[in-house]
Amino acid sequence: IGPDVIDIRKLYGQTGKFTYDPGFLSTASCNSTITYIDGDKGELLYRGYPIEQLAVHADFLETCHLLLYGDLPDAQQKKDFTARVTNHTMVNEQMQFFLRGFRRDAHPMAVMTGLVGALSAFYHDSTDINNPQHREIAAIRLIAKMPTLVAMAYKYSAGQPYMYPKNKLSYAGNFMHMMFATPCEDYEVNPVIERALDRIFILHADHEQNASTSTVRLCGSSGTNPFAAIAAGVACLWGPAHGGANEACLNMLGDIQKMGGVEKIGDFIKQVKDKNSNVKLMGFGHRVYKNYDPRAKLMRETCHEVLGALGLENDPLFKLAMSLEKIALEDDYFVSRKLYPNVDFYSGIVQRAIGIPVSLFTAIFALARTVGWIAQLNEMIGDPEYKIGRPRQLFVGSTPREVKPLAQR
Ligand code: ACO
Repeated sequence: IGPDVIDIRKLYGQTGKFTYDPGFLSTASCNSTITYIDGDKGELLYRGYPIEQLAVHADFLETCHLLLYGDLPDAQQKKDFTARVTNHTMVNEQMQFFLRGFRRDAHPMAVMTGLVGALSAFYHDSTDINNPQHREIAAIRLIAKMPTLVAMAYKYSAGQPYMYPKNKLSYAGNFMHMMFATPCEDYEVNPVIERALDRIFILHADHEQNASTSTVRLCGSSGTNPFAAIAAGVACLWGPAHGGANEACLNMLGDIQKMGGVEKIGDFIKQVKDKNSNVKLMGFGHRVYKNYDPRAKLMRETCHEVLGALGLENDPLFKLAMSLEKIALEDDYFVSRKLYPNVDFYSGIVQRAIGIPVSLFTAIFALARTVGWIAQLNEMIGDPEYKIGRPRQLFVGSTPREVKPLAQR
């Protein structure tokens, strides 16, 4: 297919030979036109546009349009797209009863996997994954309803009444309203925070064939409905090696703080280097980036802006994170393995400063990644080479043996 890519199907056909590639380190599962990453250069493009330019010149809904339809909207297209999304921000009232079935202290990602999957039970006109109109309306519904569901999960955990969406606000502004307003008091959206949250959404919107996106594709390849496929993505994202890293990173900073703060960073790094400890520096390292994660650079900038705007520059956890980053970037263990901070290292600090509880961080990542998942699902279904995903295995278990009746075993 190209200088560095072998088409295994042509090489082996139906000969019974196949490749062995645990973790898919060297396997391309699809053709894609959505996101390009050059891990060595630290480059990320959505549909050809550099992430650095999108973060400055576009907002999240424009980015959604770009990922879904292939290009940035003009003014009229943006107006129409925004109107379509805001038309669907409410969720069926029955969802409240469904939510009530959860314990109040349930992890928000447990709640989100349930709520997103449950959408398929409410919107029967958008469940046929092979019908482009169904997929289109499912995409709009998912983008529109994810902030409402995340905010509902939060309000439920806090024992507060749900806040209905306010469609005249921006996508990020409306999310903050649903999170932080109460029936007794409006929430005034700070423009620096609104922009920071919108940037978090843009930076997390897609990242080609990562674990959760591959999960969505694999799940969708069976012909299941779009809501079920996205719920599978939410479940996969939850893991600490993937989207759960932002929560794990903040918890790690809290642990170092408890150990004694900046002075104890050296001791913590020693534990990380000890291969028997199983301790990792959360928010560091990436399967594809072997250079600075470009999203982390932008998030680092946003982190300074938000903490400055909120007067939190001297926040001990932020100072600890900055010292940890400096020490790790000069340490041969991390340098030789090309381990740099990833986007999650900073996004957690920003979200904490905004007042978002740590346990909600991954749900916010899921909210933002939904558009990427659905764009990838659309691309897969539209691909003439699309087949149900079915990896092979190397069987290393027992040779055939006889089943003895229970009395003889
Ligand atoms: N801390 C310490 N050591 C690390 C870390 C880390 N965060 N990440 C990788 N390493 C080490 C590995 O132990 C391994 O060392 P070795 O060669 O001595 O055995 C080497 O670096 C290579 O690492 P792999 O595990 O092979 O890298 P892989 O590509 O499989 O893993 C991953 C990537 C999962 C992201 C890993 O770096 C990690 O667990 N990081 C922490 C979790 C995290 O931040 N995840 C967020 C990813 S970004 C996202 O989802 C938005």
